[in-house]
Amino acid sequence: MNHHPIKFLFACGSVFTLLISTAMADNDPNTSISAFLSRHWQRPLQHQGEAPASFPALEASLDPRACGICHPQQLQDWQGSLHAHAMSPGLLGQLMEMNPVNRAEHQACLHCHAPLAEQADEVVAWLSGGETGPGNPQEETIPTDPLYNQGLICAGCHLRNFQVHGPHRNKALPPSPPLAENAHQPHNGWQPQDAFESSRFCAACHQFDTDGYALNGKLLENTFEEWQASPQAKEGKSCQSCHMPDRRHLWRGIHDKATVLSGVKISLDGVETVKR
Ligand code: HEC
Ligand code: HEC
Ligand code: HEC
Ligand code: HEC
Ligand code: HEC
Repeated sequence: MNHHPIKFLFACGSVFTLLISTAMADNDPNTSISAFLSRHWQRPLQHQGEAPASFPALEASLDPRACGICHPQQLQDWQGSLHAHAMSPGLLGQLMEMNPVNRAEHQACLHCHAPLAEQADEVVAWLSGGETGPGNPQEETIPTDPLYNQGLICAGCHLRNFQVHGPHRNKALPPSPPLAENAHQPHNGWQPQDAFESSRFCAACHQFDTDGYALNGKLLENTFEEWQASPQAKEGKSCQSCHMPDRRHLWRGIHDKATVLSGVKISLDGVETVKR
């Protein structure tokens, strides 16, 4: 058994991890993943701020369909996933019960279901009966729908301060074409991060803190802990290896028959044939 202290501390809550991981910053990949994740998922998230002047308007948009103009496969996959439907009618209904301007109260849910600060602004506007969308499209070709009801959007996982973070470049892809003269690097150079290939990336939402919502003493969201205790974790199978095979953004789960069947073994023991 590997009792790495960081793994244990991670279970004790993100604030604690932040303190420890900054104190212990060294070259241990576990430490640097923890340090990145505690920055990346510091709730509530901060506004992105101003897009760099060199960004074309398309790259300055937070709308998933804008990302999808250049990343069509991820957009198509994501649209069919529950991450795209995380602001479900059930959730919107619970928000409507809340004080329209109490952001902290909204955060108790937006945190995971629609985590960007820009989405939180729109929720306040929506609950107060005001305008929600970013409005004033700079160009008609750039999608500018409201973001709050689009759930866990691309930027929620990949963008902080208009800096794109992602996994290391996929070795299966052909090398990127050389840049035209004076062209800017995609996203002014995106940041590859080990954390995107780690199960701990998902734990930011698929694990409630030990003092989180529970029913009869069982946490409502306990998936990361359950995974850590599983034989699959010991074999090194990450959440991504099962739920994002080939980096596809499908996240099929319990609502998908093939996924469920892949995790269930049905065996018939002690079946007797009855003679008539
Ligand atoms: C104008 C086209 C364009 C738009 C719009 C765009 N991207 Fe990209 N993106 C690229 C290109 C080109 C690359 C580099 C791909 C490569 O190296 O093969 C890239 C790289 C990435 C990577 C890193 C991929 C990896 O291998 O880790 C991520 C993550 C990413 N983009 C996410 C986004 C998100 C999220 C949005 C919307 C907020 C977005 N992109 C909008 C063109 C775009
Ligand atoms: C720590 C992250 C997190 C927080 C905070 C959170 N949820 Fe969720 N919620 C989830 C995850 C993950 C699922 C999916 C569970 C699954 O399929 O196993 C979910 C599922 C749901 C569902 C069922 C699916 C749907 O959308 O209809 C509802 C309803 C819901 N959450 C409401 C809420 C409400 C209301 C709040 C705020 C009081 C909240 N959640 C806070 C992570 C969170
Ligand atoms: C729940 C968080 C999450 C959301 C939402 C999300 N991604 Fe990702 N994305 C990831 C993770 C994690 C990986 C790396 C998976 C791996 O390495 O197995 C990834 C990988 C990528 C890559 C690299 C793909 C490759 O083949 O190398 C691109 C590009 C990308 N995402 C773009 C997007 C776009 C565009 C959207 C929205 C349509 C989006 N992502 C939504 C978490 C997310
Ligand atoms: C920012 C929070 C967040 C992150 C990060 C996140 N998820 Fe989710 N995920 C959710 C929420 C919220 C839902 C439920 C949406 C709903 O039904 O309302 C969900 C739903 C799912 C489902 C569908 C479950 C079902 O019942 O069918 C799967 C599978 C899933 N996530 C896997 C992952 C994996 C794997 C990662 C890491 C790569 C990840 N998620 C990262 C918030 C998150
Ligand atoms: C070995 C493959 C495998 C690994 C690893 C794995 N899952 Fe799953 N997961 C499945 C299968 C199969 C199902 C559907 C059947 C079921 O619910 O048992 C599922 C169901 C889910 C669901 C929906 C049902 C539920 O329990 O709420 C969520 C959410 C989820 N996984 C998230 C995750 C996260 C987050 C991780 C990593 C911490 C992870 N999974 C690791 C295969 C895997």
